[in-house]
Amino acid sequence: MFNYFLLSLILVFALPQDVTKAQNDQPGFISIDCGLQGPNYTDTDISDMYYTSDTGFVDSGVSRSVSSVYVSDSDITQQLKTLRYFPEGSRNCYTLRPVQGKEGRYLIRARFMYGNYDGLNQPPTFDLYIGLQYWETVTITADTLVARREIIHSPSSEYINVCLVKTSPGIPFITTLELRPLPAEMYETKVPVPRGSLNLFFRFNMNASEDYYIRFNDDTYDRFWTASNLTDTIQLSTERPIVSNIFAPPQLVMSTALTPTNTSDGRLRISWVTNITDKFFLYLHFAELELLAPNQSRTFDIIINGIPWYRGLTPTYLSTNTIYDTEPLPSNTTNEVELVKTANSTLLPLLNAIELYALIEFPLQETQDGDVAAMLSIKSTYNLIQNWQGDPCGPESFQWIGVNCSANDDSNAPRITSLNLSSKKLVGSIAPAIFELKALRTLDLSNNNLGGTVPEFLAELQSLTVLKLKGNNFSQPFPQQLLNKANSGTLTFEYDNSSDDVCHSESCNNKKKKKSIVVPIAAAVGGVLFIICASLLAFFIIRSRKPKGMQFQILS
Ligand SMILES: *[C@@H]1O[C@H](CO)[C@@H](O)[C@H](O)[C@H]1NC(C)=O
Ligand SMILES: *[C@@H]1O[C@H](CO)[C@@H](O)[C@H](O)[C@H]1NC(C)=O
Ligand SMILES: *[C@@H]1O[C@H](CO)[C@@H](O)[C@H](O)[C@H]1NC(C)=O
Ligand SMILES: *[C@@H]1O[C@H](CO)[C@@H](O)[C@H](O)[C@H]1NC(C)=O
Ligand SMILES: *[C@@H]1O[C@H](CO)[C@@H](O)[C@H](O)[C@H]1NC(C)=O
Ligand SMILES: *[C@@H]1O[C@H](CO)[C@@H](O)[C@H](O)[C@H]1NC(C)=O
Ligand SMILES: *[C@@H]1O[C@H](CO)[C@@H](O)[C@H](O)[C@H]1NC(C)=O
Ligand SMILES: *[C@@H]1O[C@H](CO)[C@@H](O)[C@H](O)[C@H]1NC(C)=O
Ligand SMILES: *[C@@H]1O[C@H](CO)[C@@H](O)[C@H](O)[C@H]1NC(C)=O
Ligand SMILES: *[C@@H]1O[C@H](CO)[C@@H](O)[C@H](O)[C@H]1NC(C)=O
Ligand SMILES: *[C@@H]1O[C@H](CO)[C@@H](O)[C@H](O)[C@H]1NC(C)=O
Ligand SMILES: *[C@@H]1O[C@H](CO)[C@@H](O)[C@H](O)[C@H]1NC(C)=O
Repeated sequence: MFNYFLLSLILVFALPQDVTKAQNDQPGFISIDCGLQGPNYTDTDISDMYYTSDTGFVDSGVSRSVSSVYVSDSDITQQLKTLRYFPEGSRNCYTLRPVQGKEGRYLIRARFMYGNYDGLNQPPTFDLYIGLQYWETVTITADTLVARREIIHSPSSEYINVCLVKTSPGIPFITTLELRPLPAEMYETKVPVPRGSLNLFFRFNMNASEDYYIRFNDDTYDRFWTASNLTDTIQLSTERPIVSNIFAPPQLVMSTALTPTNTSDGRLRISWVTNITDKFFLYLHFAELELLAPNQSRTFDIIINGIPWYRGLTPTYLSTNTIYDTEPLPSNTTNEVELVKTANSTLLPLLNAIELYALIEFPLQETQDGDVAAMLSIKSTYNLIQNWQGDPCGPESFQWIGVNCSANDDSNAPRITSLNLSSKKLVGSIAPAIFELKALRTLDLSNNNLGGTVPEFLAELQSLTVLKLKGNNFSQPFPQQLLNKANSGTLTFEYDNSSDDVCHSESCNNKKKKKSIVVPIAAAVGGVLFIICASLLAFFIIRSRKPKGMQFQILS
């Protein structure tokens, strides 16, 4: 076990050709300032990030500003001053459709600042989901604490749903939602199927002299690096550039490091406490910042919970070395990383930055992309709201009203097998997107105000065995193929024969009486759901502006 442990470890050296990115390069970034009412804007405060409103990403909830006390506080960045809260429904979702689709790997970050927006002084608790998978519980404890949840995720669908689920009397809300594409090789893990994502536990920039965090533009990928101070350490720093590697920790992060004071026992220690079931991935970033004399050396071992993890590391001068493992660390409740100098090293160990992630597995597949696209199109054609948010097929308690799906097993994404839109006051014609629901077995559109011709494609849906169109105003004749299927018994087809002069049905009579009624499109505002975030062991930040302090829970 011990050998295996060491063998899978990887030391990544610097890439010689470090490409410097253009300052305002934000390719594929999605930066949502939830609840924003004013124009989209570039936040010149710290990040130069372009924030947009949540239009088009969510269709429920209410926009609000935080309490006026905080709105006028210039220490609070603009994107924290508005939020969207969800008084209706138990699940509410934002749907993101990133450019690289499901081939991509993304950093997804949600932030929550309560700011006493409702004047009740009762910060809520609620759950956060990504698609069908529980992500974290968000617990807000004070007005200006910013709860932050961040995950590195490879989706199984083109559509990434970030959902807020109500779990207590408190009302879920969200302040910002951000997505950043990452290179596929970054944070690679050998997690067997079902695939896993990396939930941020902490990410520290070892810098004793400042307490703000670093993000874009310093970090090309807009990771947040929280400055951390360990006891009995002194800071090393350099003004000189440091060669980067695939993990691309920012220059500013790599240019400082902590090393033990000479009065300590010479070890650098970082520890954390967790649930024994958690599986962790650790990333340590090093660069030698001092030009060592020929008779000097800095070599150290990395020990985790008393077991050597990496032996004899000598950080390269002004060049980034990252140590990580594609397999998770052995589980333990109390964990400690120690950097211990080797016997003949003349200098004590140093550490520039550290990242720790807990594995979240995504055993459930999301609905097949084509079916999702079709459902979103149908939703928009008929202006249906109901609880139509997040993944159409689930989880079970959140399945879209009127939708039935095939089973969710490991090998196949669920398909939509039944669509029942009877009595939904639908107007217009049969939505062409229905033809894209290739696994549809039952379609019930009865008792609406649909008209026009019955499209021939319905006869081409191979799996369709039940088709109910009664109580509408379709023109005749119906496609012959459809009638043939009905006659041969392969399709149960229910319809009104309007070419009949004699009206047999009540709905037919009704139609005749109310000739040209304009039916407003009204979708039942049923369960509307979305979710936002939870509070992990990660960090609470008080305010986000550079000069101000932040608070985080870590290092025991
Ligand atoms: C702001 O951004 C949203 C989301 O991308 C977009 O829908 C909206 O049109 C933008 N508004 C303006 C005024 O550009
Ligand atoms: C870290 O330390 C250096 C040097 O002490 C300082 O100039 C820099 O601004 C600090 N800030 C951060 C966030 O690392
Ligand atoms: C870091 O810790 C040292 C000693 O523990 C202390 O002197 C120093 O002020 C701390 N720096 C910050 C920014 O908290
Ligand atoms: C520790 O370092 C200080 C200055 O950096 C030095 O004066 C002192 O002698 C050192 N102590 C030991 C035990 O090396
Ligand atoms: C640890 O995690 C498991 C599974 O997620 C959970 O059932 C259990 O309650 C957790 N224990 C603690 C102490 O949080
Ligand atoms: C290293 O060499 C320098 C002179 O070049 C000397 O002053 C110093 O004491 C030596 N240090 C050690 C640890 O031998
Ligand atoms: C947890 O770590 C301690 C040392 O910190 C070690 O003694 C113990 O065996 C570890 N437990 C497991 C389950 O690995
Ligand atoms: C340190 O000691 C080991 C043997 O214990 C030796 O192989 C190595 O070359 C030494 N390194 C230095 C920098 O002296
Ligand atoms: C979905 O399937 C279940 C059982 O398979 C059935 O009871 C239910 O009526 C179906 N719902 C719809 C909307 O077709
Ligand atoms: C569709 O839903 C309606 C009412 O919700 C129900 O009466 C009807 O039987 C359903 N149709 C099918 C095919 O299950
Ligand atoms: C409609 O009714 C007429 C007369 O009853 C019948 O001839 C015709 O076949 C019916 N059409 C369909 C599509 O069932
Ligand atoms: C039914 O459709 C015909 C044209 O196809 C139209 O003249 C009539 O007004 C429609 N009836 C209702 C009730 O919508």
